[in-house]
Amino acid sequence: MQGQKHILVVDNDAARRHQIETVLAFVGEHFFVFAEDEIDKHLAEVPNILTVILSGNISVKLQDIIRTNPTCPFIYHDIIDKEAVKGFANIVGELSTPLNYAQLVELVHNSHQYHNNLPSKRNISGPNPLFRSLVGTSEPMQQVRFLIEQVASTAANVLILGESGTGKEVVARNIHNLSDRHKAPFVPVNCGAIPPDLLESELFGHEKGAFTGAISTRKGRFEMAEGGTLFLDEIGDMPQPMQVKLLRVLQERTFERVGGAKSLKANVRIVAATHQHLEEMIKTNHFREDLYYRLNVFPIETPALRERKEDIPLLLQELISRFSAEQGQSVRFTDKAIESLQEHPWAGNVRELSNLIERMIIMYAEQVVNVGQLPLKYRHLDVEEFQPEYPEELQEREAINELFSGFDYDDEEDELAGEEQAVVTGSTVDVLPADGLNLKEYLADLEVALINQALDKNDWVVARSAELLGMRRTTLVEKMRKYSLQKNN
Ligand SMILES: Nc1ncnc2c1ncn2[C@@H]1O[C@H](COP(=O)(O)OP(=O)(O)O)[C@@H](O)[C@H]1O
Ligand SMILES: [Mg+2]
Repeated sequence: MQGQKHILVVDNDAARRHQIETVLAFVGEHFFVFAEDEIDKHLAEVPNILTVILSGNISVKLQDIIRTNPTCPFIYHDIIDKEAVKGFANIVGELSTPLNYAQLVELVHNSHQYHNNLPSKRNISGPNPLFRSLVGTSEPMQQVRFLIEQVASTAANVLILGESGTGKEVVARNIHNLSDRHKAPFVPVNCGAIPPDLLESELFGHEKGAFTGAISTRKGRFEMAEGGTLFLDEIGDMPQPMQVKLLRVLQERTFERVGGAKSLKANVRIVAATHQHLEEMIKTNHFREDLYYRLNVFPIETPALRERKEDIPLLLQELISRFSAEQGQSVRFTDKAIESLQEHPWAGNVRELSNLIERMIIMYAEQVVNVGQLPLKYRHLDVEEFQPEYPEELQEREAINELFSGFDYDDEEDELAGEEQAVVTGSTVDVLPADGLNLKEYLADLEVALINQALDKNDWVVARSAELLGMRRTTLVEKMRKYSLQKNN
Protein backbone atom coordinates (compact mmCIF):
# COMPACT_ATOMS: atom_id res chain seq x y z
CA MET A 1 0.00 0.00 0.00
CA GLN A 2 2.99 2.27 0.38
CA GLY A 3 2.93 5.14 -2.09
CA GLN A 4 -0.78 4.66 -2.64
CA LYS A 5 -2.45 8.02 -2.19
CA HIS A 6 -5.91 8.53 -0.80
CA ILE A 7 -8.63 11.07 -1.43
CA LEU A 8 -10.65 12.23 1.56
CA VAL A 9 -14.24 13.28 0.89
CA VAL A 10 -15.81 15.42 3.60
CA ASP A 11 -19.52 15.91 3.17
CA ASN A 12 -22.37 16.16 5.66
CA ASP A 13 -24.93 15.36 2.97
CA ALA A 14 -25.31 11.59 2.64
CA ALA A 15 -26.83 11.61 -0.88
CA ARG A 16 -24.12 13.83 -2.36
CA ARG A 17 -21.45 11.81 -0.55
CA HIS A 18 -22.73 8.69 -2.27
CA GLN A 19 -22.53 10.35 -5.70
CA ILE A 20 -18.90 11.32 -5.26
CA GLU A 21 -18.16 7.86 -3.93
CA THR A 22 -19.56 6.28 -7.08
CA VAL A 23 -17.52 8.53 -9.37
CA LEU A 24 -14.29 8.02 -7.44
CA ALA A 25 -14.77 4.26 -7.46
CA PHE A 26 -15.34 4.40 -11.19
CA VAL A 27 -12.19 6.42 -11.81
CA GLY A 28 -10.28 3.94 -9.67
CA GLU A 29 -9.07 6.24 -6.91
CA HIS A 30 -8.58 5.14 -3.30
CA PHE A 31 -10.72 7.19 -0.98
CA PHE A 32 -12.47 7.64 2.35
CA VAL A 33 -15.87 9.27 2.61
CA PHE A 34 -17.16 10.74 5.88
CA ALA A 35 -18.95 13.65 7.57
CA GLU A 36 -17.21 16.76 8.88
CA ASP A 37 -17.05 15.65 12.50
CA GLU A 38 -14.67 12.81 11.59
CA ILE A 39 -12.16 14.92 9.69
CA ASP A 40 -9.58 15.28 12.47
CA LYS A 41 -9.38 11.53 12.91
CA HIS A 42 -8.95 10.89 9.19
CA LEU A 43 -6.38 13.64 8.69
CA ALA A 44 -4.34 12.14 11.49
CA GLU A 45 -4.68 8.49 10.51
CA VAL A 46 -4.85 8.18 6.75
CA PRO A 47 -1.38 7.69 5.30
CA ASN A 48 -0.56 9.56 2.09
CA ILE A 49 -3.45 11.93 1.56
CA LEU A 50 -3.64 13.01 -2.07
CA THR A 51 -6.32 15.63 -1.70
CA VAL A 52 -9.40 16.54 0.33
CA ILE A 53 -12.74 17.25 -1.34
CA LEU A 54 -15.00 19.60 0.63
CA SER A 55 -18.68 20.07 -0.17
CA GLY A 56 -21.68 22.01 1.10
CA ASN A 57 -21.05 24.43 3.91
CA ILE A 58 -17.40 25.41 4.46
CA SER A 59 -17.40 26.02 8.20
CA VAL A 60 -14.82 28.07 10.07
CA LYS A 61 -13.35 24.78 11.25
CA LEU A 62 -12.89 23.59 7.66
CA GLN A 63 -11.32 26.93 6.73
CA ASP A 64 -8.88 26.45 9.58
CA ILE A 65 -8.06 22.99 8.33
CA ILE A 66 -7.29 24.34 4.85
CA ARG A 67 -5.13 27.05 6.34
CA THR A 68 -3.21 24.85 8.75
CA ASN A 69 -2.49 22.12 6.18
CA PRO A 70 -0.71 24.11 3.48
CA THR A 71 1.08 21.06 2.11
CA CYS A 72 -2.25 19.36 1.39
CA PRO A 73 -4.26 20.29 -1.70
CA PHE A 74 -8.04 20.84 -1.38
CA ILE A 75 -10.86 20.68 -3.92
CA TYR A 76 -14.29 22.17 -3.37
CA HIS A 77 -17.58 20.99 -4.74
CA ASP A 78 -21.13 22.32 -4.65
CA ILE A 79 -20.41 24.80 -1.92
CA ILE A 80 -22.81 27.41 -0.68
CA ASP A 81 -20.50 30.34 0.00
CA LYS A 82 -17.63 30.76 -2.47
CA GLU A 83 -16.15 33.60 -0.39
CA ALA A 84 -15.30 30.98 2.21
CA VAL A 85 -12.68 29.35 -0.07
CA LYS A 86 -11.12 32.55 -1.41
CA GLY A 87 -7.46 33.32 -0.86
CA PHE A 88 -6.14 29.82 -0.18
CA ALA A 89 -3.18 28.85 -2.33
CA ASN A 90 -3.70 25.16 -1.59
CA ILE A 91 -7.12 24.95 -3.23
CA VAL A 92 -6.39 23.33 -6.58
CA GLY A 93 -9.81 23.69 -8.17
CA GLU A 94 -13.54 23.32 -8.18
CA LEU A 95 -15.48 20.19 -9.02
CA SER A 96 -18.68 21.31 -10.69
CA THR A 97 -22.18 19.86 -10.48
CA PRO A 98 -23.17 17.56 -12.05
CA LEU A 99 -19.96 15.63 -11.48
CA ASN A 100 -17.91 14.91 -14.54
CA TYR A 101 -15.11 12.37 -14.84
CA ALA A 102 -12.78 14.41 -17.03
CA GLN A 103 -12.81 17.28 -14.61
CA LEU A 104 -12.30 14.99 -11.63
CA VAL A 105 -9.27 13.39 -13.31
CA GLU A 106 -7.87 16.82 -14.06
CA LEU A 107 -8.23 17.88 -10.44
CA VAL A 108 -6.59 14.66 -9.29
CA HIS A 109 -3.74 15.54 -11.63
CA ASN A 110 -3.56 19.06 -10.13
CA SER A 111 -3.34 17.52 -6.70
CA HIS A 112 -0.43 15.29 -7.75
CA GLN A 113 1.28 18.32 -9.26
CA TYR A 114 0.75 20.20 -6.05
CA HIS A 115 2.56 17.45 -4.13
CA ASN A 116 5.32 17.16 -6.74
CA ASN A 117 6.11 20.84 -6.60
CA LEU A 118 5.99 21.36 -2.86
CA PRO A 119 8.93 23.53 -1.83
CA SER A 120 10.18 20.89 0.62
CA LYS A 121 10.29 18.26 -2.16
CA ARG A 122 12.43 20.38 -4.41
CA ASN A 123 14.87 20.95 -1.61
CA ILE A 124 15.87 17.30 -1.88
CA SER A 125 17.85 18.14 -5.00
CA GLY A 126 19.50 21.04 -3.17
CA PRO A 127 18.00 24.41 -2.40
CA ASN A 128 17.42 26.73 -5.29
CA PRO A 129 20.58 28.85 -5.17
CA LEU A 130 18.64 31.95 -6.18
CA PHE A 131 16.75 31.77 -2.93
CA ARG A 132 19.92 31.95 -0.92
CA SER A 133 19.30 35.51 0.17
CA LEU A 134 15.80 34.63 1.32
CA VAL A 135 16.37 32.76 4.55
CA GLY A 136 13.74 30.91 6.52
CA THR A 137 12.11 27.50 6.72
CA SER A 138 8.99 28.61 8.61
CA GLU A 139 5.59 27.97 7.11
CA PRO A 140 5.01 31.61 6.09
CA MET A 141 8.40 31.79 4.37
CA GLN A 142 7.74 28.54 2.50
CA GLN A 143 4.52 30.08 1.36
CA VAL A 144 6.33 33.21 0.14
CA ARG A 145 8.82 31.10 -1.80
CA PHE A 146 6.05 29.04 -3.28
CA LEU A 147 4.25 32.17 -4.47
CA ILE A 148 7.46 33.62 -5.93
CA GLU A 149 7.99 30.49 -7.97
CA GLN A 150 4.40 30.48 -9.10
CA VAL A 151 4.48 34.02 -10.40
CA ALA A 152 8.09 34.55 -11.50
CA SER A 153 7.78 33.09 -14.98
CA THR A 154 4.49 34.81 -15.76
CA ALA A 155 4.06 38.38 -17.02
CA ALA A 156 1.82 39.36 -14.11
CA ASN A 157 2.42 42.51 -12.10
CA VAL A 158 3.15 41.71 -8.47
CA LEU A 159 2.32 43.67 -5.34
CA ILE A 160 4.42 42.88 -2.29
CA LEU A 161 2.87 43.86 1.03
CA GLY A 162 4.52 43.78 4.42
CA GLU A 163 5.97 45.79 7.25
CA SER A 164 9.28 47.61 6.84
CA GLY A 165 12.31 45.36 6.92
CA THR A 166 10.45 42.14 6.14
CA GLY A 167 12.34 41.55 2.89
CA LYS A 168 10.05 43.03 0.26
CA GLU A 169 12.99 44.05 -1.90
CA VAL A 170 14.59 40.64 -1.46
CA VAL A 171 11.36 39.07 -2.73
CA ALA A 172 11.24 41.46 -5.70
CA ARG A 173 14.81 40.56 -6.70
CA ASN A 174 14.02 36.87 -6.41
CA ILE A 175 11.02 37.26 -8.70
CA HIS A 176 13.25 38.98 -11.24
CA ASN A 177 16.06 36.45 -10.94
CA LEU A 178 13.71 33.52 -11.41
CA SER A 179 11.91 35.09 -14.36
CA ASP A 180 12.92 34.89 -18.01
CA ARG A 181 13.76 38.58 -17.73
CA HIS A 182 16.72 37.83 -15.45
CA LYS A 183 19.31 38.77 -18.07
CA ALA A 184 17.81 42.26 -18.41
CA PRO A 185 18.11 44.83 -15.61
CA PHE A 186 16.28 44.93 -12.29
CA VAL A 187 15.73 48.64 -11.63
CA PRO A 188 14.53 49.77 -8.19
CA VAL A 189 12.91 53.15 -7.58
CA ASN A 190 11.97 54.33 -4.10
CA CYS A 191 8.87 56.39 -4.81
CA GLY A 192 8.95 57.90 -1.32
CA ALA A 193 12.56 59.06 -1.49
CA ILE A 194 12.36 61.06 -4.72
CA PRO A 195 10.89 64.59 -4.52
CA PRO A 196 7.43 64.57 -6.13
CA ASP A 197 8.29 67.07 -8.84
CA LEU A 198 11.29 65.01 -9.94
CA LEU A 199 9.57 61.64 -9.91
CA GLU A 200 8.09 61.93 -13.40
CA SER A 201 11.45 62.70 -14.98
CA GLU A 202 13.05 59.98 -12.84
CA LEU A 203 10.61 57.38 -14.15
CA PHE A 204 10.13 58.52 -17.75
CA GLY A 205 13.28 60.56 -18.40
CA HIS A 206 13.33 63.99 -20.00
CA GLU A 207 14.34 65.76 -23.19
CA LYS A 208 17.02 68.41 -23.17
CA GLY A 209 15.50 71.75 -22.13
CA ALA A 210 12.26 70.20 -20.83
CA PHE A 211 12.62 72.23 -17.65
CA THR A 212 15.21 74.44 -15.97
CA GLY A 213 18.16 72.24 -15.20
CA ALA A 214 17.40 69.69 -17.93
CA ILE A 215 20.69 70.38 -19.67
CA SER A 216 20.73 67.13 -21.55
CA THR A 217 18.40 64.34 -22.56
CA ARG A 218 18.19 61.69 -19.87
CA LYS A 219 16.74 58.19 -19.83
CA GLY A 220 14.22 57.37 -17.12
CA ARG A 221 13.97 54.19 -15.06
CA PHE A 222 11.37 52.74 -17.42
CA GLU A 223 13.86 52.88 -20.27
CA MET A 224 16.65 51.53 -18.09
CA ALA A 225 14.47 48.59 -17.12
CA GLU A 226 13.50 47.80 -20.72
CA GLY A 227 13.09 44.03 -21.04
CA GLY A 228 13.54 43.63 -17.30
CA THR A 229 11.79 44.48 -14.05
CA LEU A 230 10.95 47.86 -12.56
CA PHE A 231 10.64 47.69 -8.77
CA LEU A 232 8.41 50.50 -7.52
CA ASP A 233 9.20 50.53 -3.82
CA GLU A 234 6.93 52.40 -1.38
CA ILE A 235 4.28 52.78 -4.05
CA GLY A 236 1.93 54.14 -1.35
CA ASP A 237 4.05 57.30 -1.29
CA MET A 238 3.54 58.00 -4.99
CA PRO A 239 1.80 61.37 -5.46
CA GLN A 240 -1.67 61.25 -7.04
CA PRO A 241 -0.71 62.92 -10.37
CA MET A 242 2.04 60.31 -10.85
CA GLN A 243 -0.43 57.54 -10.04
CA VAL A 244 -2.51 58.69 -13.00
CA LYS A 245 0.51 58.70 -15.29
CA LEU A 246 1.68 55.29 -14.12
CA LEU A 247 -1.78 53.84 -14.66
CA ARG A 248 -1.69 55.09 -18.25
CA VAL A 249 1.65 53.39 -18.88
CA LEU A 250 0.35 50.15 -17.42
CA GLN A 251 -2.72 50.30 -19.64
CA GLU A 252 -1.09 51.40 -22.87
CA ARG A 253 2.43 50.09 -22.40
CA THR A 254 3.82 53.34 -23.82
CA PHE A 255 5.09 56.59 -22.31
CA GLU A 256 6.78 59.85 -23.27
CA ARG A 257 9.84 61.51 -21.78
CA VAL A 258 9.10 64.79 -20.01
CA GLY A 259 9.13 67.47 -22.72
CA GLY A 260 9.17 64.84 -25.46
CA ALA A 261 6.55 64.10 -28.07
CA LYS A 262 7.70 60.65 -29.14
CA SER A 263 5.87 57.66 -27.68
CA LEU A 264 8.26 55.03 -26.33
CA LYS A 265 7.35 51.39 -25.82
CA ALA A 266 7.59 49.96 -22.34
CA ASN A 267 8.33 46.26 -22.15
CA VAL A 268 8.75 46.27 -18.42
CA ARG A 269 7.39 44.08 -15.69
CA ILE A 270 6.17 45.99 -12.66
CA VAL A 271 6.77 44.71 -9.16
CA ALA A 272 5.50 47.19 -6.57
CA ALA A 273 5.82 47.14 -2.78
CA THR A 274 4.53 49.03 0.21
CA HIS A 275 4.23 48.81 3.97
CA GLN A 276 1.04 50.88 3.85
CA HIS A 277 -2.53 49.63 3.79
CA LEU A 278 -3.51 50.60 0.26
CA GLU A 279 -7.12 49.60 0.74
CA GLU A 280 -7.39 52.09 3.60
CA MET A 281 -5.70 54.71 1.43
CA ILE A 282 -8.26 54.10 -1.31
CA LYS A 283 -11.06 54.80 1.17
CA THR A 284 -9.50 58.12 2.12
CA ASN A 285 -8.77 58.98 -1.54
CA HIS A 286 -5.01 58.81 -1.17
CA PHE A 287 -4.54 55.94 -3.56
CA ARG A 288 -6.31 55.34 -6.85
CA GLU A 289 -8.44 52.24 -6.87
CA ASP A 290 -7.94 51.61 -10.60
CA LEU A 291 -4.15 51.64 -10.17
CA TYR A 292 -4.45 49.35 -7.18
CA TYR A 293 -6.25 46.72 -9.24
CA ARG A 294 -3.68 47.01 -12.04
CA LEU A 295 -0.82 46.43 -9.62
CA ASN A 296 -2.48 43.92 -7.35
CA VAL A 297 -2.73 41.13 -9.90
CA PHE A 298 -0.70 38.82 -7.71
CA PRO A 299 -0.21 39.86 -4.08
CA ILE A 300 2.55 38.43 -1.92
CA GLU A 301 2.66 39.17 1.79
CA THR A 302 6.01 39.13 3.55
CA PRO A 303 5.48 37.97 7.14
CA ALA A 304 6.59 40.02 10.14
CA LEU A 305 9.60 38.51 11.91
CA ARG A 306 7.58 38.01 15.12
CA GLU A 307 5.34 35.67 13.14
CA ARG A 308 8.24 33.45 12.18
CA LYS A 309 10.43 33.42 15.27
CA GLU A 310 11.62 29.92 14.46
CA ASP A 311 13.63 31.44 11.59
CA ILE A 312 15.68 33.66 13.91
CA PRO A 313 18.56 31.18 14.44
CA LEU A 314 18.97 30.70 10.68
CA LEU A 315 18.73 34.43 10.03
CA LEU A 316 21.41 35.05 12.66
CA GLN A 317 23.72 32.62 10.89
CA GLU A 318 23.05 34.19 7.51
CA LEU A 319 23.47 37.79 8.66
CA ILE A 320 26.61 37.02 10.69
CA SER A 321 28.20 35.31 7.72
CA ARG A 322 27.30 38.27 5.50
CA PHE A 323 29.03 40.69 7.87
CA SER A 324 31.96 38.42 8.34
CA ALA A 325 32.41 38.13 4.56
CA GLU A 326 32.33 41.94 4.29
CA GLN A 327 34.27 42.95 7.39
CA GLY A 328 36.20 39.83 8.35
CA GLN A 329 34.77 39.84 11.87
CA SER A 330 32.23 37.62 13.47
CA VAL A 331 30.29 37.06 16.68
CA ARG A 332 28.42 34.16 18.26
CA PHE A 333 25.35 33.97 20.46
CA THR A 334 24.56 31.59 23.32
CA ASP A 335 21.37 29.56 23.11
CA LYS A 336 19.93 31.73 25.89
CA ALA A 337 20.70 34.89 23.93
CA ILE A 338 18.98 33.42 20.87
CA GLU A 339 16.00 32.45 23.03
CA SER A 340 15.85 36.00 24.32
CA LEU A 341 15.93 37.38 20.77
CA GLN A 342 13.06 35.07 19.88
CA GLU A 343 10.97 36.78 22.57
CA HIS A 344 11.53 40.20 21.02
CA PRO A 345 8.68 41.85 19.07
CA TRP A 346 10.98 43.07 16.20
CA ALA A 347 9.05 46.13 15.06
CA GLY A 348 11.83 46.71 12.49
CA ASN A 349 11.86 43.05 11.39
CA VAL A 350 14.92 41.55 9.66
CA ARG A 351 16.46 45.00 9.17
CA GLU A 352 16.39 45.56 12.94
CA LEU A 353 17.97 42.14 13.48
CA SER A 354 20.67 42.99 10.98
CA ASN A 355 21.41 46.31 12.73
CA LEU A 356 21.64 44.55 16.08
CA ILE A 357 24.12 42.03 14.73
CA GLU A 358 26.26 44.75 13.23
CA ARG A 359 26.36 46.48 16.63
CA MET A 360 27.19 43.25 18.47
CA ILE A 361 30.05 42.56 16.04
CA ILE A 362 31.50 46.01 16.75
CA MET A 363 31.25 45.53 20.52
CA TYR A 364 32.02 41.82 20.88
CA ALA A 365 34.03 40.84 17.80
CA GLU A 366 35.01 37.15 17.89
CA GLN A 367 33.28 36.72 21.27
CA VAL A 368 30.20 34.91 22.47
CA VAL A 369 27.27 37.12 23.37
CA ASN A 370 24.97 36.05 26.20
CA VAL A 371 21.73 37.68 27.36
CA GLY A 372 23.66 40.08 29.59
CA GLN A 373 25.57 41.59 26.67
CA LEU A 374 22.46 42.27 24.59
CA PRO A 375 21.21 45.86 24.68
CA LEU A 376 18.63 46.22 27.44
CA LYS A 377 15.55 46.13 25.24
CA TYR A 378 16.54 42.74 23.79
CA ARG A 379 16.86 41.07 27.19
CA HIS A 380 13.71 39.08 27.65
CA LEU A 381 15.16 36.30 29.81
CA ASP A 382 16.41 36.53 33.33
CA VAL A 383 19.74 34.80 33.23
CA GLU A 384 22.18 34.40 36.09
CA GLU A 385 25.25 36.05 34.56
CA PHE A 386 28.62 34.42 35.08
CA GLN A 387 30.53 36.56 37.59
CA PRO A 388 34.20 35.75 37.61
CA GLU A 389 35.74 35.31 41.08
CA TYR A 390 39.37 36.09 40.48
CA PRO A 391 42.17 34.42 42.46
CA GLU A 392 43.10 36.23 45.65
CA GLU A 393 46.53 37.14 44.29
CA LEU A 394 44.96 39.05 41.42
CA GLN A 395 42.63 40.88 43.74
CA GLU A 396 45.45 41.83 46.07
CA ARG A 397 47.58 43.06 43.23
CA GLU A 398 44.69 45.15 42.03
CA ALA A 399 44.14 46.58 45.50
CA ILE A 400 47.81 47.49 45.82
CA ASN A 401 47.88 49.07 42.37
CA GLU A 402 44.87 51.10 43.24
CA LEU A 403 46.22 52.17 46.59
CA PHE A 404 49.47 53.46 45.22
CA SER A 405 48.30 54.72 41.87
CA GLY A 406 48.51 58.50 41.64
CA PHE A 407 50.62 58.62 44.81
CA ASP A 408 53.15 61.32 44.15
CA TYR A 409 56.26 60.78 46.26
CA ASP A 410 57.70 64.27 45.70
CA ASP A 411 54.53 65.84 46.95
CA GLU A 412 54.10 63.70 49.97
CA GLU A 413 53.33 66.57 52.33
CA ASP A 414 50.46 67.78 50.18
CA GLU A 415 49.12 64.31 49.66
CA LEU A 416 48.87 63.78 53.35
CA ALA A 417 47.46 67.18 54.08
CA GLY A 418 43.77 66.38 53.62
CA GLU A 419 42.03 64.91 56.64
CA GLU A 420 40.38 62.09 54.74
CA GLN A 421 43.67 60.89 53.34
CA ALA A 422 45.29 61.15 56.72
CA VAL A 423 42.85 58.56 58.01
CA VAL A 424 43.73 56.15 55.25
CA THR A 425 47.37 56.81 55.04
CA GLY A 426 47.77 57.11 58.79
CA SER A 427 48.41 53.41 59.03
CA THR A 428 50.16 52.93 55.72
CA VAL A 429 53.83 52.76 55.19
CA ASP A 430 55.64 53.53 52.02
CA VAL A 431 58.99 52.63 53.44
CA LEU A 432 59.66 49.09 54.50
CA PRO A 433 60.37 49.04 58.27
CA ALA A 434 63.88 47.92 59.09
CA ASP A 435 62.65 44.67 60.64
CA GLY A 436 60.25 44.06 57.72
CA LEU A 437 56.56 43.19 57.99
CA ASN A 438 54.10 40.44 57.06
CA LEU A 439 52.78 41.90 53.82
CA LYS A 440 49.76 39.66 53.67
CA GLU A 441 48.60 40.50 57.18
CA TYR A 442 49.43 44.13 56.70
CA LEU A 443 47.31 44.33 53.53
CA ALA A 444 44.48 42.35 55.13
CA ASP A 445 44.36 44.87 58.02
CA LEU A 446 44.36 47.71 55.56
CA GLU A 447 41.62 46.05 53.56
CA VAL A 448 39.45 45.53 56.66
CA ALA A 449 39.97 49.14 57.74
CA LEU A 450 38.95 50.49 54.33
CA ILE A 451 35.99 48.16 54.00
CA ASN A 452 34.77 49.16 57.46
CA GLN A 453 35.00 52.81 56.56
CA ALA A 454 33.12 52.30 53.33
CA LEU A 455 30.39 50.35 55.11
CA ASP A 456 30.07 52.91 57.90
CA LYS A 457 29.84 55.69 55.41
CA ASN A 458 26.97 53.93 53.64
CA ASP A 459 25.00 52.65 56.65
CA TRP A 460 26.20 49.18 55.82
CA VAL A 461 24.42 49.14 52.46
CA VAL A 462 26.63 46.64 50.68
CA ALA A 463 25.87 47.66 47.09
CA ARG A 464 26.82 51.30 47.64
CA SER A 465 29.89 50.39 49.70
CA ALA A 466 31.07 48.02 46.98
CA GLU A 467 30.74 50.84 44.48
CA LEU A 468 32.83 53.09 46.69
CA LEU A 469 35.51 50.40 46.86
CA GLY A 470 35.39 49.74 43.12
CA MET A 471 34.50 46.10 43.54
CA ARG A 472 31.56 43.89 42.77
CA ARG A 473 28.84 43.47 45.34
CA THR A 474 29.44 39.73 45.45
CA THR A 475 33.15 40.24 46.07
CA LEU A 476 32.44 42.54 49.00
CA VAL A 477 29.97 40.06 50.49
CA GLU A 478 32.65 37.40 50.15
CA LYS A 479 35.22 39.55 51.94
CA MET A 480 32.78 40.50 54.72
CA ARG A 481 32.21 36.83 55.29
CA LYS A 482 35.94 36.10 55.17
CA TYR A 483 36.75 38.79 57.76
CA SER A 484 33.48 38.28 59.72
CA LEU A 485 32.52 41.90 59.30
CA GLN A 486 29.11 42.75 60.70
CA LYS A 487 27.35 45.90 61.77
CA ASN A 488 28.03 46.86 65.42
CA ASN A 489 30.97 44.57 65.97
N1 LIG B 1 14.25 36.29 4.46
C1 LIG B 1 15.37 36.98 4.55
N2 LIG B 1 16.55 36.35 4.58
C2 LIG B 1 17.69 37.04 4.68
N3 LIG B 1 17.78 38.35 4.77
C3 LIG B 1 16.64 39.05 4.73
C4 LIG B 1 15.37 38.40 4.62
N4 LIG B 1 14.42 39.34 4.64
C5 LIG B 1 15.05 40.52 4.75
N5 LIG B 1 16.39 40.36 4.79
C6 LIG B 1 17.40 41.42 4.93
O1 LIG B 1 16.81 42.44 5.73
C7 LIG B 1 17.10 43.72 5.21
C8 LIG B 1 15.81 44.43 4.85
O2 LIG B 1 15.20 43.80 3.73
P1 LIG B 1 14.38 44.62 2.63
O3 LIG B 1 14.09 43.73 1.50
O4 LIG B 1 15.09 45.90 2.30
O5 LIG B 1 13.05 44.94 3.47
P2 LIG B 1 11.81 45.86 3.07
O6 LIG B 1 11.97 46.22 1.62
O7 LIG B 1 10.62 45.00 3.33
O8 LIG B 1 11.87 47.04 4.00
C9 LIG B 1 18.02 43.49 4.02
O9 LIG B 1 19.35 43.59 4.47
C10 LIG B 1 17.72 42.08 3.61
O10 LIG B 1 18.83 41.48 2.99
MG1 LIG C 1 12.35 48.32 1.18
